[in-house]
Amino acid sequence: MAILVTGGLGYVGSHAVKQLVDRGEQVICLDSLVFGHKEAACGSEVVIGDIGDQAALRDIFSTHQIDSVMHFAAFASVPESVADPQKYYVNNISKSIAMLQVMLEFDIKLMVFSSSAATFGEPETVPICEDHPKNPTNPYGRSKLMLEQILREYEHAYGLRSISLRYFNASGADPSGLIGEDHVPEHHLIPLVLQVPLGRRDHVKVFGTDWPTPDGTCVRDYVHVSDLAQAHLLSLDALRAGKQTTEYNLGNGNGYSVMDVIRVAEKVTGKQIKAVPAERRPGDPAVLVASSAKISAELGWKPNYPDLETIVRHAWNWHSAHPNGYGK
Ligand code: UFG
Repeated sequence: MAILVTGGLGYVGSHAVKQLVDRGEQVICLDSLVFGHKEAACGSEVVIGDIGDQAALRDIFSTHQIDSVMHFAAFASVPESVADPQKYYVNNISKSIAMLQVMLEFDIKLMVFSSSAATFGEPETVPICEDHPKNPTNPYGRSKLMLEQILREYEHAYGLRSISLRYFNASGADPSGLIGEDHVPEHHLIPLVLQVPLGRRDHVKVFGTDWPTPDGTCVRDYVHVSDLAQAHLLSLDALRAGKQTTEYNLGNGNGYSVMDVIRVAEKVTGKQIKAVPAERRPGDPAVLVASSAKISAELGWKPNYPDLETIVRHAWNWHSAHPNGYGK
C-alpha cells in the first residue's frame, strides 16, 4: 500500500519521505511548494497541490492504493500566527478537515500527524510529559492542539486512527547531506547561528540574557530531524498493526541554552561566532524540555543522534555544502 505525505517537500516531511523511500515504501508527496522544495523529493512521486483541494485528493486516492497519510503540511511561524490567526486556522484546521473528509470517502483511516510542543504553552513542570496541561500561547499551537482533538473525535466517530507527534526543536539534517533545512525566512536558532561562519550574517542575536536559567539564555530540547522521521515510521507501523489513537512527545530530554548552541557551533565550525544580546522575544518560554518516555516504552523509539554536537555537525554539513539552501 502507498502512503500520502502532505508537506513532504518541507523540512521534517522530506526527512520522513527519504526514510520511507529508503525502506521501499511507495510514497506520494502532496506539496504546495509554498515552503517545500522540489529538490527534496528523494525519489518519491510528487503532486504539486494544496491539501484543501478535494478534487486533487480524490484524484490521488482514486489512482493509488493508499492506506495512510502522514500529515506535515501546515504553516508554522508563531509570530505570524499571532499577527494573522485566520491564515493559521484556515490552512492548518479547515484544510485539514477538508482532507479528512476525502480520506473517509476513500476509507483511508490511518494518519500520522505532525504536531508541536507549542500545544503545551508555558510549561508548569519539566520535562514535559504528554499529560502536561495544554494552554497554547499562540494560534499556531492552538491550531495543532485543535487538530489533535479533532483526530480523537474522528477515531470515536469514524474509526480513523492517528498518532500525533509533538516535536520539540527539530534540527540537524540527514547524515547523507542530501537534504536539510531551508526556511525562507529563517528564524530558527541553529541555521541562523551557522549563517555567521558561512559569512551570511555578521552576528546572531541572543533573545534575552536574563532568563531564570543557568546562563540566563533560553533552554530548548534540540532533536535530530532524522530521529523525528524515524518516529513517523514507527508510528505508521504501529497504526498498521492496530494501535489506537494517541499522542507522543519527541525530544531528547536534554536542555541546551542558546549560548550552549553557539559554543557547540564554534567547536564544529572552527570559527568564532559573534553573539549580541537582544530583547527577549515575545512568547518564548524560558525552558522547554520533553519527556519522550512514552514513545520509547510503547514504540521503542530511541534517538540515533541525541547529542547536540552531532546535530550541529549534520546541520553544518548541509549548510556549508548548500549555503543558499536548495538554491533559490
Ligand atoms: N533564538 C535566539 N536568537 C535567534 C533565534 C532564536 O536567541 O536569532 C532563541 C529563541 O529565543 C529560543 C531558541 O533560540 O529561545 C530557539 O528558537 P527557535 O526559533 O529556533 O525555536 P523555538 O523554540 O522558538 O520554536 C520551536 C519550534 C516551533 C514551536 C516552538 C514552541 O520551531 O515550531 O518551538 O514549541 F512552535
